[in-house]
Amino acid sequence: MNLPPQLEAKFQTLENRYPVKRSALIPMLLYAQDQLGYVSDDMIGEIARRLGLNTLQVTETMAYYSMLRRQRAGKYHVQVCTNVSCMLRGGNNLYEFVQKKLEIGHKQTTADGVFSLEEVECLGACTGAPAMQVNYDFYENLTTERATQIFEALEAGRKPGTSAPISGSVKPRHPAEVPVISRLFGVKDSHKLDVYVAHDGYKGMERALKELTPDQVIEEVKKSNLRGRGGAGFPTGMKWSFVPKESAKPKYILCNADESEPGTCKDRPLMEMMPHQLIEGIVIAGRAVGSHQGYIYIRGEYRYVLDIMDGAIAEAYKAGYLGRNILGSGFDFDLVTHTGAGAYECGEESALMESLEGKRGYPRIRPPFPAVVGLYGSPTVINNVETLSSAPEILRRGGEWYAGIGSPKNGGTRLFCISGHVNKPGIYELPMGFSLRQMIEDVAGGMLNGKKLKAVIPGGSSCPLLTADEIDVAMDYDSVAKAGSMLGSGGLVVIDEDTCMVDLARRIMHFYAHESCGWCIPCREGTGWLRKMLDRFHAGGARAEDIPMVSELAKNMLGKTFCPLGDAAAMPIISIAKKWRHEFEQHLSGKCPYKPADVLAAVR
Ligand code: FES
Repeated sequence: MNLPPQLEAKFQTLENRYPVKRSALIPMLLYAQDQLGYVSDDMIGEIARRLGLNTLQVTETMAYYSMLRRQRAGKYHVQVCTNVSCMLRGGNNLYEFVQKKLEIGHKQTTADGVFSLEEVECLGACTGAPAMQVNYDFYENLTTERATQIFEALEAGRKPGTSAPISGSVKPRHPAEVPVISRLFGVKDSHKLDVYVAHDGYKGMERALKELTPDQVIEEVKKSNLRGRGGAGFPTGMKWSFVPKESAKPKYILCNADESEPGTCKDRPLMEMMPHQLIEGIVIAGRAVGSHQGYIYIRGEYRYVLDIMDGAIAEAYKAGYLGRNILGSGFDFDLVTHTGAGAYECGEESALMESLEGKRGYPRIRPPFPAVVGLYGSPTVINNVETLSSAPEILRRGGEWYAGIGSPKNGGTRLFCISGHVNKPGIYELPMGFSLRQMIEDVAGGMLNGKKLKAVIPGGSSCPLLTADEIDVAMDYDSVAKAGSMLGSGGLVVIDEDTCMVDLARRIMHFYAHESCGWCIPCREGTGWLRKMLDRFHAGGARAEDIPMVSELAKNMLGKTFCPLGDAAAMPIISIAKKWRHEFEQHLSGKCPYKPADVLAAVR
């Protein structure tokens, strides 16, 4: 098959990028689709031939990833998010408006082939809700007027102003913020190497390479009390120490940049505005465990971020911060990016490794854990973007300094994404242990339209919800756990008194049912049943005996699935069914007593 020259070059790079050829599969499919609008039978045959696979292996893998299409999409593929943060700020109304405007529905294309439409899950723009993407361009804080302007511009062949990069619209900091990993947000050209270096960039790495032994690097990180920012909160230094010192196989550093927990959108600005900080953190992790190869797995929707990361990696190679004999230290490290193609499950560490190996993102049974048997069966450290981005300042300023910022056993700062019904949604860097009440009432400007607070999701949509009476809590892993929830990914979603909690539970469950990989029965069947039951509740068709059954079904998923997705789906529902049981009872009358939470006009 004759490919356009640009695609041919891309394919050749990908074919030579990985120790196992099949790893190139997902990126190749996505790049082919970008060029041709869909993945044709011929293209499947071509990719299979190049990677030594059969066409069935390619088609069954691609069917797993929601961004990959077998049908041609419109010239402008419009994706409207209706997940929780967007729903609370009018996402459903926006989606309805776009359907009417384009006169098409979900996964349909206009007759002239100009537009296609899709209702999608969280795009990673929750603090700019409601949000949509057209092709890879982000549009945030949308109103119907703004959406109209965007479509008019596209129809006229003009490119409307997008909301990305975010660097152009960084808000002034709140005085309570302690900028560490976000310290260059808003600084002109902060993504460039010279700007980063001028602000003490790569000094932590230099210390790690030239002054410290690998064990001392791990000790410094242990002292800092840095805990994994992906959600589980496992101590990072300890995780690094689990990697065997001697290994006949290569060791890998894998950066999880597949951020897709609804309510969470901080890895995007971290990579966009401070890509060198992440590169530096990855090399430090490499030095700590004796690894010489890293991968950054970036969610498919973040294409412009991937381009920025690639640019920064090229700059770092040229200046000697990556490659052979880094800064004359004798240490070698190579780093590449890798694109996902739309699958929340791939944020789970073992599923992510499967995906990077070019397969469906099914989780692996553990043990063995990735530190011993990870990517390509080799010892692997897997950390998320925020965790690895924290390493440079820890190494430059010392673990004790970092630990001193946070609360006991919870070192440093956290990027909190505050979305939903607040006056100033945004991403704020605050010390670990900062008061949740103060975050809502002060930092995020208080409740939108003077409404009363009803509920808070403290750490992404998989966490148990807190009531308005439960917000006097310090936002660190241990305190939030004591309060009965989780700090999770740091994505706070604030919910006002007019929101129907049954509807919220319904929307959360739609997400998890959509994203369940289907491999294990409690998760596949449990999320499906709960989705149907919650739909029925909200539609007014539920019976009294359905109320306990919602909790029962959710509890039967807890701890019974191969990966944490089953728990993630169950926990918010159990808390909603318990704390807002009266709302389920109100729905037995056949009507939802709440005003719809998603009226664009009400929040503008
Ligand atoms: Fe819509 Fe995150 S972008 S919920």
